[in-house]
Amino acid sequence: MPDAEGKAKSNEKDYGIGVPMETPGFFLRGAGHLDWGMKNRLARIFNPKSGRTLMLAFDHGYIMGPTTGIERMDLRIPPLMPHVDCLMCTRGGLRTCIQPDTDKPLVLRCSTGATVLKELSNEVIGVAIEDAIRLNAAAITTQVCIGAEYEKETLDNLSRLINAGNTYGIPTLGVTAVGKEMVRDARYLGLACRVVAEVGAHFVKTYYCEPDFAEVVAGCPVPVVIAGGKKIPEADALAMAYKAIDQGASGVDMGRNIFNAEDPVSMAQAVRAIVHENEPPDKAYDLYQTLMNERQ
Ligand code: R5P
Repeated sequence: MPDAEGKAKSNEKDYGIGVPMETPGFFLRGAGHLDWGMKNRLARIFNPKSGRTLMLAFDHGYIMGPTTGIERMDLRIPPLMPHVDCLMCTRGGLRTCIQPDTDKPLVLRCSTGATVLKELSNEVIGVAIEDAIRLNAAAITTQVCIGAEYEKETLDNLSRLINAGNTYGIPTLGVTAVGKEMVRDARYLGLACRVVAEVGAHFVKTYYCEPDFAEVVAGCPVPVVIAGGKKIPEADALAMAYKAIDQGASGVDMGRNIFNAEDPVSMAQAVRAIVHENEPPDKAYDLYQTLMNERQ
């Protein structure tokens, strides 16, 4: 029944004749040809205005146990959440310590099989894609250990995770773990990031390096975010974040340098100012101190 929708006559409808339908691109590098669900999830992780993200990493316990600063995730993480774009954690950490009424997207750590007591590259995928879906994960993640004893297995883990995620439109973050025997230079990290992207990861987490971090980013056809690494003085962590962003990183996935800062909430806000507002490191450090003093 062509007239079922009502009495409107053809000349009362507005088809926008003459106005071409827009076909905009997508703001993230390498994501232009992804499906709608993938893009929508990535747009929850990366702010479409800045094109960047501040992720809060607190998945350390899956290999390190009760890591300093997050012995009690239920106490330390919630006050930080308003200041970050995204949570990166395990399903155990999430289900036990994070209230489900949050609107923060989740990047779910899906690997297991190793701890700091043994060979860290000997991992498997331990989370079924159905559980990631159940948790409403915006992305899933595992690490690769390029050049390590179990390089092949970690690449297999990544491939399997990407295959599972692609089935349901869930993007995969590939993490480039660096063993003690590897050099964290642009040559190694550039190789690792490129491999991870070519295997099919939708974004990559790696470490900042000097010199030539810009080449690591340029050689990787998907967004690169940096890990914070071990705790360093707040001013140095802010400077590192700035240099990474300035050389093309699309964000920061920081854990210890936020939750082990003298004032974690102020640190999260200072890193945020760098990531989304290009705040130079000295101003970001001033902001950190100002906010910290105000909170005391
Ligand atoms: C390590 O277990 C995880 O991949 C962390 O998420 C990652 O290292 C980022 O945390 P941090 O900034 O503390 O290095």
